[in-house]
Amino acid sequence: MQRLTNKQIILGITGGIAAYKSAELTRLLKGAGADVRVVMTPSATEFITPLTLQALSGNPVHLHLLDADAEAGMGHIELAKWADLVLIAPASANFMARLASGHGDDLLTTLCLATEAPICLAPAMNQAMWRDSGTQDNVNLLKSRDVTLFGPGSGEQACGDTGPGRMLEPEQIAMLSAEQFESGSLSGKTVFITAGPTREPLDPVRYISNHSSGKMGYALAEAAVEAGAKVKLISGPVNLPAPARMERISVESAEDMLTASLQDLNLCDIFIAAAAVADYRPTAVSEHKIKKGTEEIMELHLVKNPDIVATVATHPSNPFTVGFAAETRDVLEYARGKLDRKKLDLIIANDVSRSDIGFNSDENAVTIVSKTTAESLPQASKRQLATRLIARIAEQYNAEK
Ligand code: C5P
Repeated sequence: MQRLTNKQIILGITGGIAAYKSAELTRLLKGAGADVRVVMTPSATEFITPLTLQALSGNPVHLHLLDADAEAGMGHIELAKWADLVLIAPASANFMARLASGHGDDLLTTLCLATEAPICLAPAMNQAMWRDSGTQDNVNLLKSRDVTLFGPGSGEQACGDTGPGRMLEPEQIAMLSAEQFESGSLSGKTVFITAGPTREPLDPVRYISNHSSGKMGYALAEAAVEAGAKVKLISGPVNLPAPARMERISVESAEDMLTASLQDLNLCDIFIAAAAVADYRPTAVSEHKIKKGTEEIMELHLVKNPDIVATVATHPSNPFTVGFAAETRDVLEYARGKLDRKKLDLIIANDVSRSDIGFNSDENAVTIVSKTTAESLPQASKRQLATRLIARIAEQYNAEK
């Protein structure tokens, strides 16, 4: 189950015997693809050690509100912003009371006040405490504030009683957590995206390249992550920071880009070639800087670069493959030719003769071309367009699977 790919979950643990199950819950959330940060109340540490949860989550465990070292790392406000979901399991009667009355007197309650992420509680307590009218008032108050309750279940309790108040099993909590996220159109899929220009060296200080900014490829990578995909961004040299929640592999030449693209291709579901790959490279790279000569004309010998997207599309483990066609005239006709020649599933055509869209601009307008259809998307920011393109690519991919 990879239903939580890229999701950032704060697992709050409060004091109760069911805290031992939080270790298994951490493991399950991680296994479903989530990045988990554990926050414990002081009484939770009486039931299970922070070290166990640190080892299972792979992240430091957060314990105190007023800890200068911890705040210097990831403080309570940063943690609150980081979370896509705050899950508290087990949630004790005392914690629910403090949350209901708006307390912010420890790290976990403060974080709940500060976060805009959904909050889910898995209550765990003795059946009489659960039935108590004070607890029930708190439950109703929390529900009215859009806090979601998972359970509690009913059955035999650690204290020997039988009745409602048992924490749900970790598997159920992990499943309910995954359901909190609208299932993304690329949930659990792996997407490789090439972006930016390539640099083809002539000598140690010179190269042949182009003006591609990488913005479109980077926006597509972000949109694919938003749609739930695991993304490998294979990027030529650009002036863009490495985006969060994905793996970025930096390359220089077309040959490097091809190597990075073919690596683990069997794991790739969708390949999107947004890079502006140099068509040719110098036949030889001079070991030393080429000196200025007396001749007026200098000849360069170039050799064709491998076509990365065509190599991927015709590979034995070929994924659903999407290319770009940047044209200055007869855009649709050339795009269709490329779709056919390179054996692509989709091609995204854009007119780069216009200076208001394309290469270095923040906006773009494109036509998505398949073997049988052509759909124009109106001019929009590269970010907005990327979201629409990813939605269309996912639709077509899912229809063909
Ligand atoms: O043939 P042309 O360069 O116009 O094709 C553009 C499409 O092919 C883009 O998707 C680009 O990323 C990809 N391409 C490639 N390897 C090349 C040349 C282009 O992957 N050597």
